[in-house]
Amino acid sequence: MSSNTQHPVLIIGGSGVVGSRAAKTLRKLQPQLPLTLGVRNLGKAQALARELGNAEAVSIDLERKDLGLPESASFSAVVVLLKDDTLNSMKYAQAKGVPYVSFSDFVFDIGPEVALHIQQPTRSPVLLLGHFLGGTVTLATLHFAREFRRVDAIEISAVFDEADVGGPAAQGDTDRVMQTVPSPLLLEDGKFLWAQGDDASRDFTGVDGTKWQGRAYPLLDVVSLAAATEAKDIRLDFAVRPGGQSISHEVIIEITGEREDGTTGRVRHELVDADVHSGMSARGVALAVERLLGLAGGPPVAPGLYHPEGLLNPAYVVARLQEFGARIRRA
Ligand SMILES: NC(=O)c1ccc[n+]([C@@H]2O[C@H](COP(=O)([O-])OP(=O)(O)OC[C@H]3O[C@@H](n4cnc5c(N)ncnc54)[C@H](OP(=O)(O)O)[C@@H]3O)[C@@H](O)[C@H]2O)c1
Repeated sequence: MSSNTQHPVLIIGGSGVVGSRAAKTLRKLQPQLPLTLGVRNLGKAQALARELGNAEAVSIDLERKDLGLPESASFSAVVVLLKDDTLNSMKYAQAKGVPYVSFSDFVFDIGPEVALHIQQPTRSPVLLLGHFLGGTVTLATLHFAREFRRVDAIEISAVFDEADVGGPAAQGDTDRVMQTVPSPLLLEDGKFLWAQGDDASRDFTGVDGTKWQGRAYPLLDVVSLAAATEAKDIRLDFAVRPGGQSISHEVIIEITGEREDGTTGRVRHELVDADVHSGMSARGVALAVERLLGLAGGPPVAPGLYHPEGLLNPAYVVARLQEFGARIRRA
């Protein structure tokens, strides 16, 4: 184990719908790794910490530069599973020189974090992980794209149950998008576009043949995939299944391009997971934290600004997702 991991990973929001799952996944992957759950309501987090073992709960005050923690506190990483409007959590990670994971920033949100990183580029590895399902979908897409020598278009579709909204923090973020910044970012014919009206919706066929009308959503996947491939058209659209039918969710990844043998075609992969969508998101966080600390896939990650595809091996992540229970079918 790297010396970097002697101190606990601070998971701010560690008792929430995503956070509790991320902490449990990390515990499964790394039985010895100490964890600290940073929250406001200590009672619930303390019960989870006891269940996890080698974990504790601390009270966090995001309004303070020291997060309300004692000066002697030391952590191996700071993972923030809620929207921190102050960015004190990122400044804290930079001051301590440890990895920072941001998880709740949409594509239009990341400016302040990028600026903080530019200001102190050698302090911390900073992972922007506001991607769909904790980066797992972008990584799966890059894995499936390997059968093409040239990728032309990527269409990602997802169906959620209406009841699968996550906790209050996630609901707050959804409201923020709906009320203030309704335009999602797409890549269309090689140009980035903040889509409006009809451009922001797309029809697709679900795993069971149901026809859905999806709406584009401003997550970071489009920019990651645009940077990592030559595709000229990239988008991500969600549809909502009327409430309570099932908690499972499905993701459909369709890639068009030219194969190694020179033929062109379109390939469809379907990914189905029986847990709430926060389960897959939490697994993405856990795999990223393992990687950042150097506990899997290579040495501890050097200071820099990262997206998940810059850190994690797509084939490794797909294999892990399947082990965790996601079903993947090439249709
Ligand atoms: N990138 C992705 O794939 C992805 C996927 C799903 C969700 N998300 C995002 O993840 C976040 C968490 O969602 P969730 O469903 O887990 O929400 P949640 O169940 O409401 O969890 C929020 C957590 O943060 C803590 N918290 C809230 N405000 C806090 C504050 N001011 N200071 C310290 N701790 C605070 C809560 O504990 P206390 O109440 O005790 O403070 C709880 O542990 C949301 O921002 C959501 O948008 C991202």
